[in-house]
Amino acid sequence: MSKRPTGIELFAGCGGLSTGFLDAGLNVAAGFELEARAVDAYNYNHAYRGSRGFIADLSVASGAELLQLAGIKRADFVIGGPPCQPFSIAGKRQGKRDIRADLVGHFIRIVDELKPSSFMLENVPNLAAISGGEFLHEVKAELRSLGYTVDHRVVLAADYGVPQNRKRLVLLGVKGKRTVRFPEPTHGTAERPYLSAAEAIGDLPDAGEFGETGIFNHEPTAHSDDMIERLSALKPGRRERGSYHDRLHPERPSYTLRAGSGNFSPLRPVHYKHHRVITVRESARLQGFSDDFLWPDRIPRLQQYRQVGNAVPPPMAKAFAICLADQMAWSLARERFACDPSTRPLANIFTDDERKAQRAARMRGASLGKVALAAK
Ligand SMILES: C[S@@+](CC[C@H](N)C(=O)[O-])C[C@H]1O[C@@H](n2cnc3c(N)ncnc32)[C@H](O)[C@@H]1O
Repeated sequence: MSKRPTGIELFAGCGGLSTGFLDAGLNVAAGFELEARAVDAYNYNHAYRGSRGFIADLSVASGAELLQLAGIKRADFVIGGPPCQPFSIAGKRQGKRDIRADLVGHFIRIVDELKPSSFMLENVPNLAAISGGEFLHEVKAELRSLGYTVDHRVVLAADYGVPQNRKRLVLLGVKGKRTVRFPEPTHGTAERPYLSAAEAIGDLPDAGEFGETGIFNHEPTAHSDDMIERLSALKPGRRERGSYHDRLHPERPSYTLRAGSGNFSPLRPVHYKHHRVITVRESARLQGFSDDFLWPDRIPRLQQYRQVGNAVPPPMAKAFAICLADQMAWSLARERFACDPSTRPLANIFTDDERKAQRAARMRGASLGKVALAAK
């Protein structure tokens, strides 16, 4: 068994999982993802740490092709959060979901082809409810038949120091072990309580243009006067009845941040103090991303929000990486991946006016209201 393991991330998005694994000191050689704008963010935030993102359709790519792209001979671990396709008809077999037609099935296929000594699959808790639990049962049986000791848990990100009540199902598999261990919670006790929204974002100034705040990805969403009036009356920790906006409570972890898919953009939580929805930077903080993680201007803001909402919170990923390394007797090399983010090209290339114009052209829906951003 390799002491200095190398792995890859599948369905990588902007790479929240990779970030946590690199932070722990494990080498993630590459992330594979279909959406070019997510690969762009992946590369911006990981290439300087030695991890490269590639555009790949994982429903067709072979394990050998992925190794070749990553420039490695084998993968000791495979990690990833394959999207579960809830409405896929193609994935149904005799009224049940067919894992071979699902992206979860392609995760398994690639594990089968690459034969890593461990894997981590992250998903929504609802995975356990599909076909009355049979789908997950089949997934686990298939992975066991490949020689893995497999177990799953529904975990809470807040337990691992993420200021968010985000529940996720994690399936771990290890080879050559009788049991598989999950990381113990680090937070949620009297001595070490959950991190609150105010602890996570309270030091940030109110949102503004980059020229005003100097903070990346911290521009405001413009709301209509009517919406601002309604949000002003909304108490922390409550839901606005007309628009269904939830307002953060400063002393509690955030609500679950969601990504949406297709044209659907989920409502974002309202700041506990300011009468607007949270910015991309505030969302990233509530997912446990460091301020070094940047979304370059060329990535539309809706995409930025989506990538944040899709991510595995890096502190949670880090806890899993450390726990996996411990049971696999892998050594961690934190210093190797603690690289200097200032060596990257600038993320903010637009002027404030250009950024406003881009937002006005691209943002739509209730949150935009009647205010013309460009004229603000
Ligand atoms: C839940 S997100 C993963 C987020 C990632 N685990 C993180 O921590 O940032 C799932 C990703 O799978 C990608 N995806 C969907 N279909 C795909 C396919 N056929 N091949 C590769 N990636 C795909 C989506 O674009 C999305 O970014």
